[in-house]
Amino acid sequence: MAQRVVLHTDIRKGTINRNIYGHFSEHLGRCIYEGIWVGEDSPIPNTKGIRNDVVEALKEIKVPVLRWPGGCFADEYHWKDGIGAREGRKRMINTHWGGTVENNHFGTHEFMELCAMLECEPYINGNVGSGTVQEMSEWVEYLTFNGVSPMAELRAKNGREEAWAVKYFGVGNENWGCGGNMRPEYYADLYRQYQTYVRNYGDNRIHRIACGPNADDYQWMEVLMREATRFMDSITLHYYTVPGATWEHKGAATGFDTAEYFTTLEKALRMEELVTRHSVIMDKYDPEKRVGLIVDEWGTWYDVEPGTNPGFLYQQNSIRDALVAGLTLNIFHKHSDRVRMANIAQTINVLQAVILTEGEKMLLTPTYHVFNMYKVHQDAELLDLTLNSGSYSFDGKEIPEVSASASVTAEGVIHVSLCNLNHASAAVLPLELRGLAGQAVDIAGTTLAGATIDAHNSFSEPEAVVPQPFTAFKLEGDTVTVELPAMSVTVLEITPK
Ligand code: AHR
Repeated sequence: MAQRVVLHTDIRKGTINRNIYGHFSEHLGRCIYEGIWVGEDSPIPNTKGIRNDVVEALKEIKVPVLRWPGGCFADEYHWKDGIGAREGRKRMINTHWGGTVENNHFGTHEFMELCAMLECEPYINGNVGSGTVQEMSEWVEYLTFNGVSPMAELRAKNGREEAWAVKYFGVGNENWGCGGNMRPEYYADLYRQYQTYVRNYGDNRIHRIACGPNADDYQWMEVLMREATRFMDSITLHYYTVPGATWEHKGAATGFDTAEYFTTLEKALRMEELVTRHSVIMDKYDPEKRVGLIVDEWGTWYDVEPGTNPGFLYQQNSIRDALVAGLTLNIFHKHSDRVRMANIAQTINVLQAVILTEGEKMLLTPTYHVFNMYKVHQDAELLDLTLNSGSYSFDGKEIPEVSASASVTAEGVIHVSLCNLNHASAAVLPLELRGLAGQAVDIAGTTLAGATIDAHNSFSEPEAVVPQPFTAFKLEGDTVTVELPAMSVTVLEITPK
């Protein structure tokens, strides 16, 4: 069948939760320290110790929610080490990530300040693996209790009289692995216990998040939903795209061959199957879809850049990553009835970062540009779209050539995001606009393409891959035919006149 998209502009399928465009920042490598926190005395321009350039760039993409402090770090983190006068804060070894000294200079107050600067929701991940119920309960009290209490008093002593508003709270991270190597039955019981003391104070309402499965661990999802559905508001899923066959050989971020390019996209597309199959289990225990699925770690994971600390997970980011981001976000849109939040790992200098820094220098990765182009989908209404994609074959394997999604804003402006995964050829795609009842439209577009399969931005060439105006379309009647460049992410804006 010929490649074609039919877009029903009058059939709405629910809201795309803006939190699908969320981010994740862990105390890992140079994500928090250097990437975000440079300290008040740094020559790098900052406000209250937080880099100005990074805040400005993150505000531009409208980061809706930010997860912190981990990751694996969360289940080793003791929040009281990160409050009070900075010079007096405990120093510890970050055993998970590179064995560096963590001086705890970036703690609760600094994180909440960052969220205020970004105007985003904080998503705090508590410690189940090595923390106590009391410790978790007191953190929530410290953050959100306005009134007379030991933790509210301590907060005031540390300079913050007023409680903060905190909605999203995670009860443990990867408790099947770095968060305690637990069995699902054991964690389900612990989850029930810990969340009991994650209290709602005053008007603050906490959205309790249970630790969900790794990738295709359907048994974990089954047990958690069976034992704890009524105690949770959301459950998480982690899935990383690793092109190599083993963790020892994950593949390089640049300089890879076409086979590895193809495998990466093929593996990224697996998110569709994972979300679908986990949703089936969730539907069994929660047919009303009250509980959200939060994919709070996703993205590419490659071998670290040569010569860098293996525990810092620093990798370059190319047009291949932009395609992974574009197709994954399209999958999340499609499942927005269940997927209510997602947090790409990780914001700066770690894994599939949107920003890389080198001292005072900062660059925006191809993945950043996809988040910027796609931000128009945040809180928009998903539109019904049928895609008959041609196939993209390589070495006897096949994947769809195109990934597509569409939404409409409250003002009636339609956006269609289209990824051409094919490394070698442009994709010519007729897009039939139904439901406009003869109304004329204005069309504009932006595209991000790569000249080579690993085209990327570097500190010597920071603008090698940047969005360009997209003009390769022709409107005839109710069909707009687009010619998507090879390896490209395109967003069309269709405005009824
Ligand atoms: O994002 C890096 C690590 O990956 C996180 O700390 C952990 O949760 C996951 O295994």
